[in-house]
Amino acid sequence: MKSFRARLVLSFTLLTAVVTALVAAWAYQSSAEALRDDTDRLLRDRAYVLSKSVTPMAMRLQPWMEAFLETDKTGLRVQVLDPDGAVLTQSANLTEALPLSSSAREASATNMSSFTETVKLKDGTSVRVASVPVTTYRDNRNTVIGFAQAAMPESTRDERLHAILMRLIGAVIAATLVAWLLATVLAKAWLRSVDAAAESAHRIGSGETLRERLFVPKDEDEVARLARAFNELLDKLEEAHGTQQRFLADASHELRTPLTVLRGEIEVALRRERPANEYREVLESSREEIERLTKLTENLLSLARSDAGESIATREPVDLVALCERVRDSLTAQAETKRIALTVDAPQPVWVNGDAVALERVCLNLVENAIRYSPAGESVMLRAMSEHDEAVLSVSDTGPGIGADHLPHLFERFYRVDKARSREHGGAGLGLAIVEALVKAHGGSVAVASTVGRGTTFMVRLPVA
Ligand SMILES: Nc1ncnc2c1ncn2[C@@H]1O[C@H](COP(=O)(O)OP(=O)(O)OP(=O)(O)O)[C@@H](O)[C@H]1O
Ligand SMILES: [Mg+2]
Repeated sequence: MKSFRARLVLSFTLLTAVVTALVAAWAYQSSAEALRDDTDRLLRDRAYVLSKSVTPMAMRLQPWMEAFLETDKTGLRVQVLDPDGAVLTQSANLTEALPLSSSAREASATNMSSFTETVKLKDGTSVRVASVPVTTYRDNRNTVIGFAQAAMPESTRDERLHAILMRLIGAVIAATLVAWLLATVLAKAWLRSVDAAAESAHRIGSGETLRERLFVPKDEDEVARLARAFNELLDKLEEAHGTQQRFLADASHELRTPLTVLRGEIEVALRRERPANEYREVLESSREEIERLTKLTENLLSLARSDAGESIATREPVDLVALCERVRDSLTAQAETKRIALTVDAPQPVWVNGDAVALERVCLNLVENAIRYSPAGESVMLRAMSEHDEAVLSVSDTGPGIGADHLPHLFERFYRVDKARSREHGGAGLGLAIVEALVKAHGGSVAVASTVGRGTTFMVRLPVA
């Protein structure tokens, strides 16, 4: 079944049909029983009246009885038998004698009560027969002097039952039709807003901008909630789309700058013949630009990986103290050229669960920044410690600090406090974005505190192993 609406209508219609059919079946069953009881009671009454209308002197039908039978439409027929079962008199509409079964004789003669049964006549018709005894008061007691019988063809009852059945079937069909009609109209009304929402969602999907939003109905119903959730999703999508576009534009811009420099230098060098040492200079400067490009593409790649959720390859116990020492060792030379004191303060090992390479990258980026942006003669301190159930890694410097208005944007991609100066250092503004992505992938957080003129501290918090 293709549409939800069709399914809704079908279910509602089927349910109505089944329920009404069950009610109809029960009504038919009850009517059949009531009709049978009614017929039996009627036949017993007629037989009783007949038994009282005959007398021992005149064991035949009274003229009024004959007249009554003639006007009767139910096919009532009667007969009177003598105690031996021989027919004394019978109504004109009886073509053959009604049988008197032994049970009927027994019940009538011995118990003086009526007896009702179904018998089959020779011509194949089934009739319902009630037999009652005809009695007279003789020698101080009731004596049976014959039997009175009243009968009615079963077909009379069957016809009435059939009529009831037809009416019930008609009612079931009518109820089903009404249910179908009602369900169609209601489903259409109910699902109109869903249809409208689907249509505008389709328009948004096939359109060029993500700016359009779904109409949110006033009622606080499921459709309104769905529309609102969809709009929230669109907000997020639009934002992500915008971020992506900016990222792409920034990345292309960053890639273009070193390429332009490279091209310019090569073109100038090729303008005329030059001595070997000049070519060498150009080549060395080109190598610098290429290194810058390589670092930039590596950074872009690791951000792309972290966006795809692949930033950490393994999870193993890593000692932050040992990690800090490795970073110190690898950057000591760089720090010394700027006469910056690089020290590690970590009295005890601090274990976390993570990717050693990724965590080293975090530490390296922070320390590199601290060295890069601090003037000569300052100091950089690495600390690792456990705090409650967290491992804290901090990198502090006594450098220039960062203005408060820059702090909220520091971890954004391509964000640099001073574009010109940062580029001078070869930075593209991706280092801290990578730090944040890697730390988040480890389930941790990173924060910065800085005072202009006094220094900056970056604090990474990670869950302990
Ligand atoms: N310790 C610090 N002291 C002062 N300013 C800092 C410090 N660390 C970062 N910054 C500022 O924050 C900006 C963003 O740093 P980030 O590491 O993200 O980029 P980058 O160092 O410029 O480039 P990349 O790290 O991609 O080479 C830097 O441009 C710098 O201005
Ligand atoms: Mg950096």
